[in-house]
Amino acid sequence: MSRLTPIRFKATDLDEIAATKGRVAVLVTPDGKLDPGARRVNRLTKGAVARLVESEGFPKMESGQVVSLAWPAGLAAEALDILILSRQSDPVQARKAGAALAKAKGTASLMLLAGNARQADNLALGLALRDYRFDAHKTAEQEEAADTSAEVVIHHTRPDDMAAAVEPLLAVAEGAHMTRDLVNEPANILTTTDFADRLVEMRDLGLTVEVLDEDKLAELGMRTLLSVGQGSDSPSKVVVMQWNGGAQDAAPLALVGKGVVFDTGGISLKPAAGMEDMTMDMGGAGVVAGTMRALALRKAKANVVGLVGLVENMPSGNATRPGDVIRSMKGTTVEVINTDAEGRLVLADVLWYAQERFKPAGMIDLATLTGAIIIGLGHDNAGVFSNDDALCNAFLKAASAEGEGAWRMPLGKGYDELIKSRIADIKNTGGRPAGSITAAQFLQRFVKPETPWIHLDIAGVALVKSDTDFAPKGATGWGVAALNRLVRDRFESET
Ligand code: BES
Ligand code: MN
Ligand code: ZN
Repeated sequence: MSRLTPIRFKATDLDEIAATKGRVAVLVTPDGKLDPGARRVNRLTKGAVARLVESEGFPKMESGQVVSLAWPAGLAAEALDILILSRQSDPVQARKAGAALAKAKGTASLMLLAGNARQADNLALGLALRDYRFDAHKTAEQEEAADTSAEVVIHHTRPDDMAAAVEPLLAVAEGAHMTRDLVNEPANILTTTDFADRLVEMRDLGLTVEVLDEDKLAELGMRTLLSVGQGSDSPSKVVVMQWNGGAQDAAPLALVGKGVVFDTGGISLKPAAGMEDMTMDMGGAGVVAGTMRALALRKAKANVVGLVGLVENMPSGNATRPGDVIRSMKGTTVEVINTDAEGRLVLADVLWYAQERFKPAGMIDLATLTGAIIIGLGHDNAGVFSNDDALCNAFLKAASAEGEGAWRMPLGKGYDELIKSRIADIKNTGGRPAGSITAAQFLQRFVKPETPWIHLDIAGVALVKSDTDFAPKGATGWGVAALNRLVRDRFESET
């Protein structure tokens, strides 16, 4: 696992600045006010900060932007980062500013003079979220990383308060980093077995983790899930992670993730171009894992159970064929029209199992389910489908408060027409119209009406081709922060 760069708060000490190696960062408000740290740096650099503030360009700059000066005269630092930050910044704006600093910083150490900034904890979270690299398979970077001792030190007038405030936030960053590591990892390394092993390791954090193997899944009747993995040499698995931090009798929130470690499409084989991206088809399971990690790290006072269906969708002499009919664990029969619509087959059984076993107070599934959601919403918003307005609105509020894009999409009886099968109860595709909705509608057939449920189609947001506010290009970790907040605001007991 990639390690978070350590971040610590300490009492403001303006005497340390001149001798600091690495980078030094100061805060300036958009109307050009310097705090004591920035004033000190300004004196040491014979006016470098004031020259920026008085420059023609300064009024055009916005809160959250960073201006970097390399090798500033008067400092031992390799660079001076001047962060423009409004004192009225909300938490998301402060995080974006922290992320901008992390981007400027690269792999260097940083000393940030934060004075008495109210949002220093969120600045730190932004720094931690954006300070991520996936270089596990880059040999030169690996050698370098082995002997780095980079750290971030934030000088603040109330270091103890900030250190306490930042602790649960950094749990979220660590969870999101885990999600990104899983999503970025290629499928020859992150096999179903390796994925399950990484989840078992989270027992160290106090999670209860069970791995259900193929024999157990067959015994339970998870035939639609097994039908997806049967063409692969990697065994299918369901992993159940429980965090019991809440009241003993409180029904849990269930998080269910699609964990297709590689999606070739199966016999309905995908075209070659872009198929390499299908290493990310376990993104839903990745978010479930990262969220469970965050909850355990911050010892959330809630009961949450995470279930992931880990399979590989491969063509072979033993693979499921188009036209096959399979009886799900629930008993509903499914005609497989297209073996590339496999995510819903995996989720159908895991959703049913989650409800039968845990009688959850709410259930949220996450899946890189359809290409159609990318056509509809692009890469800025996940698709949100729900049978419960209260839970759905609480989720949308949490996502917006965390700066994670989410947009509600409709469900409706009319769409069921599109997934009627001639020979079975339902078929697994409904053709091109409303592709994301028919997929959600399929899932809803495996949700009990009394279970408040949300389906999140994260195909567009799990992996992106350019930098986002909080992540370098690649896996984003989208959803860990929103789900963590939803748990905090809606499922956590007062005790
Ligand atoms: N894993 C894909 C969806 C996907 C596409 C995720 C692009 C991320 C990026 C899913 O299993 C799939 O193949 N869906 C098909 C469904 C179709 C056959 C009904 C799709 O979207 O084309
Ligand atoms: Mn597919
Ligand atoms: Zn898929």
